[in-house]
Amino acid sequence: MLVLGIESSCDETGVALYDTEHGLLAHQLHTQMAMHAEYGGVVPELASRDHIRRTIPLTEACLAEAGKTLNDLSAIAYTQGPGLGGALLVGASIANALAFGLNIPVVGVHHLEGHLLSPLLAEPKPAFPFLALLVSGGHTQIMAVHGIGQYEILGETLDDAAGEAFDKTAKLLDIPYPGGAKLSQLAEHGDPSRYTLPRPMLHSGNLDMSFSGLKTAVLTLSKQVQAEHGHIDEQSRQDICRAFQEAIVEVLLKKCLAALKQSGMQRLVVAGGVGANKQLRAALNQAAKRKNFAVFYPPLELCTDNGAMIAFAGAMRLQYAQAAAAFSVKPRWDLSSLPAASSTTPSPLTDSTT
Ligand code: KG4
Ligand code: ZN
Repeated sequence: MLVLGIESSCDETGVALYDTEHGLLAHQLHTQMAMHAEYGGVVPELASRDHIRRTIPLTEACLAEAGKTLNDLSAIAYTQGPGLGGALLVGASIANALAFGLNIPVVGVHHLEGHLLSPLLAEPKPAFPFLALLVSGGHTQIMAVHGIGQYEILGETLDDAAGEAFDKTAKLLDIPYPGGAKLSQLAEHGDPSRYTLPRPMLHSGNLDMSFSGLKTAVLTLSKQVQAEHGHIDEQSRQDICRAFQEAIVEVLLKKCLAALKQSGMQRLVVAGGVGANKQLRAALNQAAKRKNFAVFYPPLELCTDNGAMIAFAGAMRLQYAQAAAAFSVKPRWDLSSLPAASSTTPSPLTDSTT
């Protein structure tokens, strides 16, 4: 089965081809970072318009890279949500129109399921069940993953996501958009022993987290430094970045260790943009050796948003649906569990957030 995947939920247009026999054949990405940089953040309308411009050329580039044509496709997968409504509609419209024209199935993928399954695109692959730390710009969750579609949330952030905390903290330290990755680069040159910031909810006794207070702590600290020195010199900025990163990494690490202990699992999968963070990876790798568990990551370039994870999750969903449809009976089937098919049933393209 050859699946075209289209990701357009935010500020990256990602297109990829995944073959269930031969793996990932091609993946192309266009990031809108430069376009949004002058506004200091993502402008949704500009994002949608850029997805319109990019999706077809990236699809053509993917097909050329893989030596395939549209007629070779078995199905199309697209990010159905969550994300920016207009941006999602671009990917959804193109995917549905192409699939209709080619008379092949189309499948809407949950963006987070894409991230969650992306470590299965690397070698060695984790076997089910595994524990997953999903750390993106919009979500921070610890999950028990029992199989495709069997996700149990064990803990999550009560406010800002880890990536969001990176981005907001970067902004208040005058680090230009997109700040998260740049903040972590500055942190590499920082002195971890100069400042200490709080570790929110480290001892909460559960697997929940909270990161919104950290940026306030950074703000207070940078005001102190400014008051002492008249300005924030480069070394102090790097030291503050380091203190912030130390705090986030320690919370994520300790919560993962607690989750492993609680669930008895021995495999940890890390997915989402913050999974690209070098210090987080180093801390998890060290702990894995010490505590004897295995840790898995997606390939580095597939940590942040991309089409490959959508093509892959779509392929898994379609295979699963095919297997279920091929031979499945329901000895106990509650009539009231059938989905409604009235005119009020939203079409796949309805934006349920508006
Ligand atoms: O998964 P992703 O591409 O998008 C969402 O689905 O949200 O994650 C983007 C997030 C951003 O908040 C970005 O600041 C963060 O991932 N990020 C990083 C790093 N690279 C990206 N955070 C910390 N360290 C990094 N190296
Ligand atoms: Zn994402």
